Amino acid sequence: MMYKELYGIACDMIPRAYAPFSKFKVGAALLSKDGQVFTGCNVENSSFGATICAERTAFVKAISEGTTEFEAIAIVSSEGEAWPCGICRQFMKEFCDEDFKIITGDDENSLKVYTMEEILPEGFRL
Ligand code: THU
Repeated sequence: MMYKELYGIACDMIPRAYAPFSKFKVGAALLSKDGQVFTGCNVENSSFGATICAERTAFVKAISEGTTEFEAIAIVSSEGEAWPCGICRQFMKEFCDEDFKIITGDDENSLKVYTMEEILPEGFRL
């Protein structure tokens, strides 16, 4: 699958975001090594710390359905490009190798692509 296509699927998830507090809506599309796409959006909560980011929504959906090997994730927000927070970087690190790709950008013609190693160098694993 092309990165642009994955990015487009992430864009389609923005309206599903539940973000009444921050108003910052995020969509994600996670591509597994066997070619499946798992989508996600951020889901906020009145108790702010209970909020789940779009990326983790997608990962939890995939893992709970039995898929644990991943190729890439596209992320986009209602404000354009969006980079994973520190918690999401660590969460991804648990399941992704150094070559896993993180894709974002303001539009499909200005995508930025980084690897897991680039966004979380020397990341922690037990
Ligand atoms: N958020 C995500 O869903 N993913 C990111 O990459 C950055 C932040 C969400 C969490 C919260 O609902 C809102 O964006 C503002 O922090």
